[in-house]
Amino acid sequence: MSVPLLTHLEVVPRRRNMGIGSELLDVVRQRLSAAGHRQVALGVGLDNDDAQRLYKRHGYVEWPHGMVKTTAVIYLSDGRRQFLPELCRIMVKPLDGDDSAHG
Ligand SMILES: CC(C)(COP(=O)(O)OP(=O)(O)OC[C@H]1O[C@@H](n2cnc3c(N)ncnc32)[C@H](O)[C@@H]1OP(=O)(O)O)[C@@H](O)C(=O)NCCC(=O)NCCS
Repeated sequence: MSVPLLTHLEVVPRRRNMGIGSELLDVVRQRLSAAGHRQVALGVGLDNDDAQRLYKRHGYVEWPHGMVKTTAVIYLSDGRRQFLPELCRIMVKPLDGDDSAHG
């Protein structure tokens, strides 16, 4: 079975640090497990230490095959989108066993 890729996890700035991102990650875990997936992957910007810490707390570990060139989508206030090249660290989480959030 292919590995699902979680893309663009974002919470509006005024609602951050209230547990919404963690809840979204829990829903992802539950739904993908229920669908029979064994792993989930995501890409995170190299300088996004805060998000990497959150993912590690949720059981994501670094993919051992190096960085991947991706495209970041920036949503502008006028509704337009800007596309920028971004080098990402890939993180993977096994979905079997004890996959609850820690910390
Ligand atoms: C990452 C993000 C989705 C987390 O959502 P959240 O609702 O704030 O998450 P929670 O409240 O469940 O958990 C808080 C954790 O989020 C992370 N976080 C908080 N503010 C953040 C920010 N501005 N950017 C990135 N991560 C952030 C931290 O790890 C924090 O945990 P800490 O106590 O160790 O600092 C949210 O902060 C966000 O939208 N950030 C900007 C977009 C982004 O960087 N997305 C990730 C792309 S891979």
